[in-house]
Amino acid sequence: MEELKKEIEELKKEKNAVLMAHYYVDDEVQEIADYVGDSYYLAKMAVKESKDVICFAGVKFMGESAKILNPERTVVMPDENADCPMAHMVEIGKIQEMRRKYDDLAVVCYINSTAEIKAYADVCVTSSNAMKVVKALPQKNIFFIPDENLGRYIGSQVKDKNFIYNDGYCPVHKEITAAKVKRAKEMHPAAEIVVHPECTPDVTAMGDYIGSTSGIIDYVTASEAKEFIVCTELGVLYELRRKNPDKVFYAAGQNQFCADMKKITLENVRDALRDMKNPVELPEELRQKAKKALDAMLELAE
Ligand code: 13P
Ligand code: SF4
Repeated sequence: MEELKKEIEELKKEKNAVLMAHYYVDDEVQEIADYVGDSYYLAKMAVKESKDVICFAGVKFMGESAKILNPERTVVMPDENADCPMAHMVEIGKIQEMRRKYDDLAVVCYINSTAEIKAYADVCVTSSNAMKVVKALPQKNIFFIPDENLGRYIGSQVKDKNFIYNDGYCPVHKEITAAKVKRAKEMHPAAEIVVHPECTPDVTAMGDYIGSTSGIIDYVTASEAKEFIVCTELGVLYELRRKNPDKVFYAAGQNQFCADMKKITLENVRDALRDMKNPVELPEELRQKAKKALDAMLELAE
């Protein structure tokens, strides 16, 4: 493994490349990444990046967002099949139908979505900025796509808007059921419950803290508690344990792993950098339309 890491470090220099990684990818990939973060942080870093190549250790919508925001860079993906199922969970026809139905409508699109879907939205959000962005919108009616759970969580916090929900979901967070969390709490009564807002409302209702992966890491690091029940994908444990070696973490259940994020390996990071494999390419018209929604997010979230 050390050989492979050395090879990647050399390739980064040779290709003038940077490696970006999401908290859900395997530990060894996070370990050698130049930037590791939540979706918002990674999008902001991608805008600023001046190196020739961005290798994106994450799922497709993340690489696409980097390319949309910084088209001068070559963005390569370690595995072209690493894709977030939720990113596809809304029909364009449904967006058009809502636009016909409501005059005063904002289509708010979670960044976990395809470029095509973003192109039909007014603004993107991530789990760490959705509240701020939605509150700043002038429109009364909010069609929140694709994720119903994040939408419902934001809707429960922003009372003066009329939310319309879509039925998309993250299969990984859906598996973290309230019954599993309750059982974990019974086994570890002193533990605090930290929850990602992609979880269902009955699970977010149990959270001592609800927020993005970065939000969870910051909360745990600042907390006085010594034990935590982690209700999100368990790749986040790498950073949680690195920052909090004296704290103990429990999963709510089994299978808290995103199969798509786990497709990223040191081998395919090496191959992507060496052979410039799987470059993200988008038609310019689509890129510009999708960029409007991402730019609106960056502006309102500041
Ligand atoms: P954040 O890291 O922005 O919380 O996103 C979670 C996620 O599901 C990414 O796919
Ligand atoms: Fe998509 Fe869920 Fe995997 Fe995140 S954890 S990439 S939302 S399937």
